[in-house]
Amino acid sequence: MTERVHYEGCVLATMQNVREPYGLIYDASIVVEGERIVWCGPRTDRPSSYAAERTIDLGGRLVTPALIDCHTHLVYGGNRAREFERRLQGATYEEIAFEGGGINATVTATREASDQELLASALRRADRLIAEGVRVIEIKSGYGLTISDEIRMLRIARRIEKERPVSVKTTWLAAHAVPPEYENRSDAYIDEVVLPGLKRAHEEQLVDSVDGFCEAIAFSPAQIERVLDAAKRLSLPVKLHAEQLTDQKGALLVARHHGLSADHLEYLSADDIPAFSASGAVAVLLPGAFYVLKEKKRPPVERLREAGVPMAVATDCNPGSSPITSILTVMNMACTFFGLTPEEALAGTTCHAAKALGIDGDHGTIAPHMYAEFAVWDLEHPSELSYEIGASPLHTVCSHRAQS
Ligand code: NIG
Ligand code: FE
Repeated sequence: MTERVHYEGCVLATMQNVREPYGLIYDASIVVEGERIVWCGPRTDRPSSYAAERTIDLGGRLVTPALIDCHTHLVYGGNRAREFERRLQGATYEEIAFEGGGINATVTATREASDQELLASALRRADRLIAEGVRVIEIKSGYGLTISDEIRMLRIARRIEKERPVSVKTTWLAAHAVPPEYENRSDAYIDEVVLPGLKRAHEEQLVDSVDGFCEAIAFSPAQIERVLDAAKRLSLPVKLHAEQLTDQKGALLVARHHGLSADHLEYLSADDIPAFSASGAVAVLLPGAFYVLKEKKRPPVERLREAGVPMAVATDCNPGSSPITSILTVMNMACTFFGLTPEEALAGTTCHAAKALGIDGDHGTIAPHMYAEFAVWDLEHPSELSYEIGASPLHTVCSHRAQS
């Protein structure tokens, strides 16, 4: 028989019931059976039929869903600190990319790194996210740019969930940059690497979704469309790096392909928001990249909010535009730079992040039928999560989910 457990003595931010900010419940109880939540609410309302074998008192602490980082490039070789120095002296991200640096510098370092080196550095980064209550991490390929190196990146990403208490969702991002051996032959790169590689990685069950960098310095909307069509033929969900540096109408591509999310969106035009909103896709905001690249243009948050578009927030952890492994810092940045409320920032790393990964039936809220996996914080109110910078407020994560 599955054990039934009561959690009680907590302030619960369910992120589910919108009647109260944060879905907040004081003196709450959560009832867990097996891997799932079966009931939650005010402790005094708990039906007596839910008698438990075990009761755990949380000492009045704040409880939220375990956090989700829905956009990372966590697996890579080397670092780009020298490029950071150059940008501080005035070189732009685009100039460095055109000179063969940028993403392609990390491609060289990733190809040269051994599996052990890539895994060890990715685990170091994953550990920092895990220490801040993250239990689901999306990880993209995109620094291999050969079929075998892209597949190697996804295999290493999947290894992380064997080594650590975290679930990993892998994304095929071979359309991230044109590698040097395909210079001026980007269509051939798509035909010879991106599309056949996707098929192979899918056959090896390594792909949860498909992404592309739709940008003047990367791939055109027409090229990206071919990748999204291929994903559709394999029944894989899609997402895009869209409107980060220029307006390429990537968000509209996502909408047309019924994608999960469009990510970045600094240059999203207000005119495109109605169609994007109607598609139900999530706007994933990446304030770390905005900060590091010293962007001036902010995503149109007010308009997205008015249109009811769900907004997620993620680290975009990568060696170039966002060398950040603190999801709480990124939540703070989402508030200070983009004008999100702390409640929106927490929705951005829980319920809306789950939606951006297509896992909102299992993760991201505290409600019956959801996985019993929640973060317990040494805090009194959920606004404190976005407020303090550099704190380590996590007390523990309670997880009943079987390790994969
Ligand atoms: O999400 N925009 C494209 N990809 C990454 C940057 C990758 C890099 O600079 O290495 C991003 O910002
Ligand atoms: Fe990214």
